[in-house]
Amino acid sequence: MSNPVILTGIRANNDLHIGNYLGALLPLIDLARHYAGEYEINLFVPDLHSFTTPIDHGTLQEGIETNLKLYVAAGLPLDNPAVYLYRQSQVPAHSELTWILDCFTGVGEMQRMTQFKEKTAQLSSDRVSVGLFHYPVLMAADILLYRASYVPVGEDQTQHLEFARDIAERMNKRFNKELFTIPKAVAEQHRFFGKDQGLRIKDLVDPTKKMSKSSVSDKGTLFLTDTPDVARSKIMSATTDSLNSVRYDKDKQPGVSNLLDLMALLRGQSVLELAHAYEGQTQYGPLKHDVADTVSGFLQEFQNTLAQVDMDAVRAKLEHSEKIMNERANSVLHVVQQAVGLR
Ligand code: TYM
Repeated sequence: MSNPVILTGIRANNDLHIGNYLGALLPLIDLARHYAGEYEINLFVPDLHSFTTPIDHGTLQEGIETNLKLYVAAGLPLDNPAVYLYRQSQVPAHSELTWILDCFTGVGEMQRMTQFKEKTAQLSSDRVSVGLFHYPVLMAADILLYRASYVPVGEDQTQHLEFARDIAERMNKRFNKELFTIPKAVAEQHRFFGKDQGLRIKDLVDPTKKMSKSSVSDKGTLFLTDTPDVARSKIMSATTDSLNSVRYDKDKQPGVSNLLDLMALLRGQSVLELAHAYEGQTQYGPLKHDVADTVSGFLQEFQNTLAQVDMDAVRAKLEHSEKIMNERANSVLHVVQQAVGLR
């Protein structure tokens, strides 16, 4: 039996933000560092996902390279042979399996995806690409081609992960064969990754929304490439509330709770313990200062590491991984092609 596969990807559009880091990267990299030999770790750049909404195609290659460097700066151990780093578009099986899965997916299923509804609410249907509509199918192919069991993602991707399980089960049943490994149920993934799985870091300006690459203003998003000073000023002007009490209560105090979450996750501490330390405080200034110190310290160190990433080592890892990933993905694809009668 081969080791269970843990897999995730982060789109190469804009700079990654701290929500991407805490929601998807950190859980995977923590595992890669501490449990080498027990799992296989697949981290990829979903570059085909990058233009479901319009982008500047002239900068896509640069964006892909930046993502790869950020993965390494975040601690991905390139020298670990159980770690694979690859670009989605370099493994054509992703696109081929997507087409097959598309034909077993209901239009209604895609229409029910909350993220799709949210992203397209203000747009006329001619301005919404078919790619954006069915991107959860490509995401399912990304996961199923490698028989992944665990997929660290933020809360906004949970529904897509459920879809990957559904389509895998449907195909296995339809063809009466274990074509795909079913990724673990979301609740089990939560237990596996602990606190980080299903995370939703909030926007600093509007803490009722998730922190996002595509927010209208940059002020609410902490990018991994923000200078420590820029990050500090974003945190100092973060929206809180008028309750004058530092408490961890996501419903009543989303801004304060988000700041506590950020600090706890970056320090590797329990958020409730951290909140306890502020009990009785009626001013938000000291909390913001502490969060700003933690975040700017983290960014300083992160960016020092980023500046030293050896792109030659990254390229060598890509070449090696992409060769192996093509072999693995093609063997799963072949079984599916046989099942549907194409081979
Ligand atoms: P993307 O690129 O939008 O986001 C990458 C990851 O970051 C998480 N995330 C957050 N986590 C916590 N708080 C936030 N505010 C926050 N914002 C984003 C996302 O949940 C995600 O885990 N479709 C995916 C990329 C993808 C993928 C895959 C992931 C493609 N194929 C296969 C896993 C497996 C996406 O657009 O993520």
